[in-house]
Amino acid sequence: MPSHGHAKIPQHVAIIMDGNGRWAKQRGLPRLEGHRRGVEAVRTTMNAARELGIRYITLYAFSVENWKRPQEEVGGLMGLLELYLKKELSTFVRDGVRFRTIGRIDDMPAGVRRLLRETEAATKHFTEWNFILALNYGAQTEAADAARAYAAAVRDGQEKLEDASWERFHRYLYTADLPDPDLLIRTSGELRISNFLLLQLAYAEMVFTPTLWPDFGKAELKAAIDEYAKRERRYGRTTEQIKAGTK
Ligand code: FPP
Repeated sequence: MPSHGHAKIPQHVAIIMDGNGRWAKQRGLPRLEGHRRGVEAVRTTMNAARELGIRYITLYAFSVENWKRPQEEVGGLMGLLELYLKKELSTFVRDGVRFRTIGRIDDMPAGVRRLLRETEAATKHFTEWNFILALNYGAQTEAADAARAYAAAVRDGQEKLEDASWERFHRYLYTADLPDPDLLIRTSGELRISNFLLLQLAYAEMVFTPTLWPDFGKAELKAAIDEYAKRERRYGRTTEQIKAGTK
């Protein structure tokens, strides 16, 4: 649900991290080197987000479509993810960051799945800072999974068909207990949503930057927040209503 405040710092920022491959290609490096530098950008961005007071950050790390990439690249990405999770756990605990995932985690490799479970379990009592990694994620898959879960709940008598509504359906999304993103950032100059959080981005402001993901950092995040702060979020109302503080 949108919060109707005028806070200039978004509560939840979602990022489509794009351009690792092009970053590497520009330097004559293998694509995986771009992803490696992409992981560094994840670290930098996470720290910057906390410094700026952003409580929720969701990163699109692997889509349901990404399995179609060359096997070597998929394997490389999974390896980087494992390494990242192993290294980062102590940092999450030190900084009080709750780690969660969205996506079809059951289809991730067993080793990654185990690390994800461990990281989630070790950080689940933290509330202030939230880091959500979208893995094997697709918004259409999420909608289908939610519809199936909702239908099963109706079948089992936990939901009534007459009560069907967005509010009730929302509880079956992967993001059931997360606020909707206030701001979406996509790097590398592409102007697409690419099946990311389609329903949750209903009222999000969007900022697109030509910066390639490995080059993204505090300055770029700050610039996106400044752009967000200039926008007027009206949620269907008029400027006059917003100025008068109409809820
Ligand atoms: C987009 O670049 C990036 C990805 C598909 C993967 C994002 C993954 C990481 C940043 C590393 C893994 C993340 C974590 C948190 C361990 P691209 O390959 O589509 O770039 P291109 O469009 O230039 O080819």
